[in-house]
Amino acid sequence: MNVLPIVTVAGSNPVLRRAAAPVRRIDRDLRKLLDDMTATMRDAPGVGLAAPQIGLGIRLIVVEASEERGEGSARLHRLADPEIVWRSDELEEGQEACPSIPELYGDVLRHTSIVVRAIDVTGRRVEIDAVGFEARVFQHEIDHLDGVLFPDRVTSQDKLYFLEEDESGEMIRIPAKVVEPATLQVR
Ligand code: NI
Repeated sequence: MNVLPIVTVAGSNPVLRRAAAPVRRIDRDLRKLLDDMTATMRDAPGVGLAAPQIGLGIRLIVVEASEERGEGSARLHRLADPEIVWRSDELEEGQEACPSIPELYGDVLRHTSIVVRAIDVTGRRVEIDAVGFEARVFQHEIDHLDGVLFPDRVTSQDKLYFLEEDESGEMIRIPAKVVEPATLQVR
C-alpha cells in the first residue's frame, strides 16, 4: 500500500471541483488504488478520502469512521460509485475538516442517517446503513465526487474557522471571514 500525494485547493487543481466519472466495474487496478487510498487516508490522518483528492476524477471513496466521533470501532469501506439512496429528515450540525483544505474547519449540517448503495472492493453491490459521524463522513466524501467541498455546505460564513492555541493552551476559533483560496468560491 502506498501513501499518495493529496491534492489541495491551494494548487487550484480543477479535479476537486469537477463531477467524477462512474467506474461501473472493479478490477485489479482499482482494488490496488482503493488500498492506496486507504493508506493515504490513514496517513493523513483522516476518516475518509475520495479519489479526486488524489487527483483522479473517478467515483471511488474510502471511509473509516465510527458512529460516535473518536469512540468505538470503525468499519473500513472501500467503495465504487456510492450513491445516497435514503436520507433522514433529521439533520445535525457537526465539525468537519478536509486534508484538501488544510487547517480550515466548518460546522456543517448533515443528515443523521443515510443509506448508501455502492459496489464494494470485491465487486458486489452493497447497501450500507450509516448513522451519526459515519453518515457525516459518507456525505462529505460523496460530495467530493460531485465537486462539492464542505465550505459550500455551511449555512453562513461564520461557521468556517481556523483553530489556534492561545497562551493558556486552549483552542480558540479564528473566523475565516474571507475564505482563501479563491477556488473555494468558484462553483
Ligand atoms: Ni474532504
